[in-house]
This record gives sequence, structure tokens and C-alpha cells, in this order.
Amino acid sequence: MRLKDKVCLITGSGSGIGQSTALLFAREGALVIVNDLDEEKGRETVKQIAEDGGEAIFLKADVTSPEEVKAMVAQGIAKWGRIDVLFNNAGISGVGALHEVEPENWDKVMSINIKGVYLPSKYVLSHMMERKEGSIINMSSCIAEIGLARRASYAATKGAVLALTKSMQVDYAPYNIRVNALLPGTILTPFVENYLRTSYDDPEAAIASLKTRQLSGELGRPEDVAKAALFLASDESKFMMGSPLYIDGGVVFGKNA
Ligand SMILES: NC(=O)c1ccc[n+]([C@@H]2O[C@H](COP(=O)([O-])OP(=O)(O)OC[C@H]3O[C@@H](n4cnc5c(N)ncnc54)[C@H](O)[C@@H]3O)[C@@H](O)[C@H]2O)c1
Repeated sequence: MRLKDKVCLITGSGSGIGQSTALLFAREGALVIVNDLDEEKGRETVKQIAEDGGEAIFLKADVTSPEEVKAMVAQGIAKWGRIDVLFNNAGISGVGALHEVEPENWDKVMSINIKGVYLPSKYVLSHMMERKEGSIINMSSCIAEIGLARRASYAATKGAVLALTKSMQVDYAPYNIRVNALLPGTILTPFVENYLRTSYDDPEAAIASLKTRQLSGELGRPEDVAKAALFLASDESKFMMGSPLYIDGGVVFGKNA
């Protein structure tokens, strides 16, 4: 019960890492606000939490819409009186070297991956500042630290999220609010499966080659990232402030050859 009675809002928790984190947080005693753009997927996460004996509600919102995000935060606070933890997890992939990226795709990736961190933070922060308490977890990626082929727009957003995390931490430390970032390597989720399908002729060969990039020789699982998020959400990480936490099978700091 490492999150007993903590109210945790997780954006994009209808799938992948967000869903796995929602299930884990609920098992650790959290009251979970499941957010997603996709109502069916979000409600499925809530159903699984209820079957597991946990407590969760679903609030649909597009993290790029100020009105929807504002309403979601207000509804969450109306339901449980506070938000202790915000996990800005929602995000999409962006494939292509810079010259291949169409302007509308560039804007979409920027909007969901960066504005989608800014807006939930903005509306949750005013509430956390009043209470002088809170933990915010921003989803970056190890791509913020290393160059990977044909991921220009995505890399730009995850670098921005890491820089934003550090800047936010300085501004909100006086309010006893911690802001940290997660930097996963390749985690096998629907997001990565879709990327593999759309980017490679032979997705199986692509997975095999991706595995060689990790010192672990394996891709990560959503649960691996969920456990790191649990640590950042809980008071156990109270001395971590503005930090990047890597969950990448050794991709950033190791070399296979
Ligand atoms: N899977 C990886 O290898 C990996 C690695 C590093 C970082 N990440 C990051 O982790 C996060 C989650 O990735 P995942 O692999 O679990 O992806 P996923 O596609 O499985 O889940 C993302 C969820 O976000 C939701 N979403 C998308 N746009 C939204 C919006 N505008 N408003 C609300 N919800 C929205 C989707 O409906 C989906 O349910 C993303 O930010 C991603 O960039 C993933």
C-alpha cells in the first residue's frame, strides 16, 4: 500500500504504460483517475481495476484541449477532493527524418507530446500549490539523450519534456511539489507495435534488431516503467527533484560493442 489514499491522475491510461501504471497504482491503494481520449480503452482500464478490487474513475479528455483538461481536473477534484499525483503519460509516436515530416504531423506530435504535458500540469498545479504538496511525473524517453534514426519530431518533444521537467522543478520546489521525468527505452506496447508495423517491411526482424540495442537483450515491458512511476509517485522518492529516471535496458549508458 505504497500509495494508500493518494489520488493519482494518469493521462493516456487506456493502453500500454499508462494502463499498466493505473493497475499498479490501484493495487498500491491509490484512487486512480484514468484519462484517455479513447473512451472504450479508458473504461476497460477502470473495469480491470474494479475487478482487481481497486478504485478508479474514467474521465475522457483530449490533453491538447484547455477546456477539456480544465474540466477533467475539476471533476477529479470534485470526486476525491484533491490530486496528489499527476502522471503526464499520454503521447504519440512521430516517424521520419526531419525532411520527411509533413507540417501537420509535426504540429500533431508537438501538440500531444508537449502541450499535453503543459495543460494538465497547469490546471493541477494551481491546486497542488494551494495544498503545498504533490508529485508530477512527466513522460520523456531515452531518445531525449541519444540520437535514433528517423524520429526527429518525437525526439524534439521528449527533449522538450525533459527540459520542461527541470524548469518546473525549480519553480515549484518552494511549494513542496516534486517534478521528475521517466526516460524509458523501447517498451513493447501498442504504440511500439504500431511504429514497427508502419515503419518496417518485416516487423519481426525489426524487433530482433531492436533487442540487440539493449544491454538486457530484451525489450522492456509496461510493468517495468509502471514500477519506476510508482517509486516517483510515492514518498519513497522524496529526495528526487527534477531528475531523469532511466528504464532502458542500458541503452543510454551502455555499449554492446
Ligand atoms: N513504448 C515505448 O517504447 C516508449 C518509450 C519511451 C517513452 N514512451 C512514452 O510513453 C507514453 C505512453 O506510451 P505507450 O507506449 O504506453 O503508448 P500507447 O499508445 O500504448 O498508449 C498511449 C495512450 O495515450 C492515449 N492518447 C493519445 N493521445 C491522447 C490525447 N490527445 N489525450 C488523451 N489521451 C491520448 C492513447 O489513446 C493511448 O491510450 C508516451 O508518452 C510515449 O511517448 C513510450
